[in-house]
This record gives sequence, structure tokens and C-alpha cells, in this order.
Amino acid sequence: MAQCCETSPRYGISSNPTPSRNSNQDPPDAPSATAAVLLSATATPGAAAHLQQGDPSSGSSNNNNTSTKNKNQNPNQKQDDSSGSSNNADNYNKDDEDQVGTLPLPFILSKKTPAALFLSRPSSSYTDLCTCCNSSSSNSSASSTTSSSSSAGASAVARQLARSVTATSIMDMPYNTSPSLRVRTTSLNQLKKTADLAIENELHVCPSVMSEELRKLLPPTSETVMTKPFPIRGERTIADCTTPHVIAMVGLPARGKTFISKKLARYLNWIGIATRVFNLGEYRRHATTAYKSHEFFRADNEEAMAIRNRCANQALHDSCEWLLSGQGSIAVFDATNSTRDRRQLIHDIVVKQHGFRLFFVESICDDPMIIEQNILEVKVSSPDYLNMNTELVVRDFLQRIEHYEERYQPIDEVTEAHLSFMKVYNAGKKVVVYNNEGHVESRIVYYLMNIHITPRTIYLTRHGESEHNLSGLIGGDSNLSARGHQYANALSTFIAQQQIDGLRVWTSWMKRAIQTVADVKAPQERWKALNEIDAGHCEEMTYEQIKERFPEEFKARDVNKFAYRYPRGESYEDLVARLEPVIMELERQGNVLVVSHQAVLRCLFAYFLDKSADELPYLYVPLHTVIKLTPVAYGCKVEHIKLPIDAVDTHRPKPKIPGDVSEPGLDGLSGELVAPDGVGKVLIVGDDVATATNGNGGRVDAQAHQ
Ligand code: SIN
Repeated sequence: MAQCCETSPRYGISSNPTPSRNSNQDPPDAPSATAAVLLSATATPGAAAHLQQGDPSSGSSNNNNTSTKNKNQNPNQKQDDSSGSSNNADNYNKDDEDQVGTLPLPFILSKKTPAALFLSRPSSSYTDLCTCCNSSSSNSSASSTTSSSSSAGASAVARQLARSVTATSIMDMPYNTSPSLRVRTTSLNQLKKTADLAIENELHVCPSVMSEELRKLLPPTSETVMTKPFPIRGERTIADCTTPHVIAMVGLPARGKTFISKKLARYLNWIGIATRVFNLGEYRRHATTAYKSHEFFRADNEEAMAIRNRCANQALHDSCEWLLSGQGSIAVFDATNSTRDRRQLIHDIVVKQHGFRLFFVESICDDPMIIEQNILEVKVSSPDYLNMNTELVVRDFLQRIEHYEERYQPIDEVTEAHLSFMKVYNAGKKVVVYNNEGHVESRIVYYLMNIHITPRTIYLTRHGESEHNLSGLIGGDSNLSARGHQYANALSTFIAQQQIDGLRVWTSWMKRAIQTVADVKAPQERWKALNEIDAGHCEEMTYEQIKERFPEEFKARDVNKFAYRYPRGESYEDLVARLEPVIMELERQGNVLVVSHQAVLRCLFAYFLDKSADELPYLYVPLHTVIKLTPVAYGCKVEHIKLPIDAVDTHRPKPKIPGDVSEPGLDGLSGELVAPDGVGKVLIVGDDVATATNGNGGRVDAQAHQ
């Protein structure tokens, strides 16, 4: 605080809240004058006094101001404070402001950093900064009563900058910045440049009207979209996976290695870490003519062994090449890797030659039931055994396992102490982790500790049609419409008919979701994480209204819907991060009915169907339809069960021209999901299978579901 006493008077911190317009013309080479002017437009007398006097309570003064701001919060903002997302937004802003008083003082008060001077005043909400849209006056905080329009611009920028510095200090910017906003990553240079621009121009900070140049310079704040400290896909990949990883499976055949590999890859891709599986069996099939028998896997079959070694080397080589190409961060090497020599070779190539991280996942299983189940579920249908009868397949495969057993060396903590690995016993009954090297490995361990293979079903449905659905408004927390209530009744009847063992019901905290399960007879739990995407300033607006009021924002969403974050709201990317604990818990559970919202269910659906970030925001999740997911072999069977109650269609397909609202809301799929007899079609997804049946087991034409 001593530095505070020394420096602040030099900058002439003024208690006069009304600067003259001419002040803005102070030469940029006079930072102190500039800063004083800008500061005078923004500083409350109280804040200035604290700085001048070096009052150690100046931080708490900011806190007081923070609560003033909160009291004056925009009444249009989402009422549902139980919403995880809106809480996050508020917390973020609160943190933002609280942090002002705790930033390192040399930084705050550096003579060379005019922007830093703005920190003496806490920021207020977006709407009182915006001089171009109509939402300003009702929302001004008590301390933002600047009088002239020119000072409003300067004041606004000052506040922007104050926030930006704060935001930077709270978070590691690249980690949190949306890819589309990377350019806004804060640096002192940018702040200084922005401050200079603020002096030279009459500025309005509403992002919709700001010049592109200035928008790019502005660091992320709650006004320029950046609002929540959620990790971001691409950025997170860069931050956390700077070193590529190879995850090498270990274990005898039929121990679930491919199941683990595929599931792990699906999860890692969903959380934003580009992952690909390299399956040795596929390389071997490629390199050989049709599989004949287990003899191929005998340890003394030299010719076959040479082929197998060549294939293993090729698969490993391809994994490393793929990582080197920058296309991905994690390669899963799905093979038995059952000897010490093979693992040493992998270590030499992956770690010594390429400098990548290597983590072995060994699946150990001595439960004959699990092994037999595995053979019946996935080996009988393997391309190795095309048109072979089940009994012969089982016999051949058991002999194949015996050949491997002759040479199998489980990973040994003593002789292979240099390796990093985990061992999963009997499909998760016991887990051992050794030499865990970092974040990615920890996430993998945690995920693999949560998954199970007990058969179960997950039911996903949106709430019944709501009043806001009827008026085309997005977000909000409205009640069900009359048809929505009918759906609630129909849903409870449907669920009762299904007679689902140990069913649990999860809903968001939104009224429409809770009303939808009012009559469902099963234990219920509410999750804030299941609340609908927070549309921020666009909450409770129609798409047309958003287009009219925020045309640039509207267009930007169409350009990259997954990464686009609503002003002061969330993106799909944010949603995925928010939903990770839900997925983790879903993996642990048995039968669950999840009642949530369009955007949220798209994210969950994308996880189960292994959909890419591009496809995710356009997945079709219609109202009044139950999506039944049943895990099968390496994928998930999907059934859409449309209950016979009409509802509006809220799906907005990707327009050909970004920002275009002239196209109809329907994408034509809703009708296709329902057979004339009301029986939902069944889509089986997984392992390159994409076939549809008519719900009674009969096959119909395959259909790609967009
Ligand atoms: C296979 O060829 O099917 C697998 C080979 C292996 O992982 O050892």
C-alpha cells in the first residue's frame, strides 16, 4: 500500500466525476495526464481518496462497490439464481471486481500503464456501458452517473480495461479464451494500445457497434463475450496436452482392451482432446488374407510372428506420425502388448525417440463370465470369424488366448519401474496406478475408474413444451404449456410401462423440467449443471429479435456455433465443460432418466454417439420425444420414442448463409423419426454400424441422423 501513497497523487487522481471533452485530446505521450483524465471520468471520489491516502481498505471499498453493482443488477437478467450457469456468470464478475483491490500494486499503479489507473474504480454491468442500445439507463450503477457522452465513451473503455486486467490476473487467458477471441488475449501492450485508441476516438463499447479493429483489441470481459472461467476445447488441448501422449493397452485377448480404447477416445474427444485409436487387429487383418485359425497366434509360428511384429511396428509408427502431424494429442495403441520386450520397444520409440508421454493401461481379468461375455458380444461378430458358427468361434478364440498366455508378462513394478501405468482388474473391481505423470493421465484414471459394464439404459428427454417455446423465446424459466403438461402425463405413463429397475430421475433446476417429471414415480435429483445454455443478453428473445439487436453476434453464432459464446452467457463449448461431472456420474449409474434442455441434451447425446464439435450443436433433439440409449458392444443403441403429443419444433438448422433467419425452423427430420404407427425408429450407432430398424426388430433403410 505504501506504493499506492507514493504514486497515486502523481497521477492527479481527481475526485471530479465529470471530465471535460477536451481531456480526451491529451497527447498519448503524457500518460499521467491521460490517465488522470480517463480516471476522472470513472473514479468515484471514494475510490480516489482511498488511493490518495493509501488506505489499506481500498480493496474492501471495491468490494462494497461490487455489492452496489449486484444490487443494481439488470432486472432482465435470468431470475433463476439457482442456475449453475448464471451463478457462474455472477461469480465471475464478482471475482473480477473483488480482484481489483488485490492486484499487485506495482502493476496497478505503474506510471507506464495508463490502463492500470482505471483499476481504481470497479466496473459496472454491460448495459450501463452501452451507449447505443436501449438497455442502459435502468441498469446504471449508483456510481456511474457521468454526465457527458464523450466521457461515457472514455469511461466505458476505462471500465473495460479495468476488467481486462482483472480477468487476466484471475485466469490464464489462453486457457479461457474462446478460439474466436484469441486475438483478445490480454497483454500490457494491447491494454496500452487500447487506452490510446480510447483517447483518440469517441468510443462506445457495445460490441455490436464497435469497429472490428477495436473489438479485436478489447480484451475479454463480460461485455465482449468472455464471461466464464470455463476451459475451452482447443485451448485446453494446447494448454494441457502440449506433450502428445500414447496410451498403450496391455492384456490378453478378450479383456476389454478395445472397449476401453474406444470409450476412452470418445470421452477424450468429447472433452476436447483430439484422440485416435490405432487397433493392431485391424493392421493385421489388412496385412493378411482371411483369418484361418488360432494357429496364426502360436508363439512358434515364425512366419506369422514376423507379420505380427511388422504390423505392430507400423501401427506404432502411424500413431507417432499422427501425433507429430499435429492432428491430435492422444494416440491409443490398442494391442495386447503382452511382453516386456514389446513394452520396452514402445517406450524406446515413444519416449526416447519422440519425447512423448507414454501411459500403459493393463486390463487384467480372471473372471470367466466376463471373458465369455466378451467373446460372445464382440468376437463372434469380428471380421475374423465371418460366417463361422458361435461354438467354433468360442473354441478358436479360447485357444488363441492360450497362445498369448504362454508368453504373457503382466507389467511388473520392479522390472518395469520406469513405466507409467494403471492396471484395471476385473472390469474395475480394483485399480492400481503407478508413476502417474500428469493431468491427462489423472483424467484417464478417473474416467476408467468410473465406467462399468453392467447393462443399463439411459433415457434422455427434453422438458414438455413450454410457454416460451410457444412464443419462440429462447432461455428463461417459463412454465409448461398445456401440451407440455400433457407430455408430462404421457411421460410418466411411458416410464411406468417400461418397468425400469432402480430408475433415478435427474432434472435441471428449471421449472419446465421439474414440472415434466412431476408424476414420474422414481427418486429425483436436481442438477444445476443440467440447466439450459445461458444465452446471456439474448435470454428470452426470439431469434429474430437477437438478429435485429445483435446482428454481428447472431451471424457469429452461425459461423461457429460450437465455440460461439453468448454475450455474458455460455457457448456449447462451455456446456460440455459444465456437463463433464454429469457424464462422469452417468457412467457410474444404472438406469437414469435425464430431463433437460435442447442444448444440454445435444451435448450429452454427442458424448454417447461420438459426434464431433461441428455436428454437436445441430443434433436433432425434438420436444416430446424420449431418446433411449442402450450401451452395446463398442457403441450405443439409440431409439427415438416420440410420444403422441404435438409440440412446436425449436430446431434451427445451420443456415446456408450465416445470420439468415428466413429458412424454416424445421429440418424435416421430426416427421422421419416417427413411423406412421407411432413406433419410433431405432438407430444403432457404433463401430461403423448405422442401421435402422422399425422398433420391432425389423430392419428398414439405414438412415443417417443429423
Ligand atoms: C490381433 O492381431 O488381433 C491383435 C494382435 C495383438 O494385439 O497382439
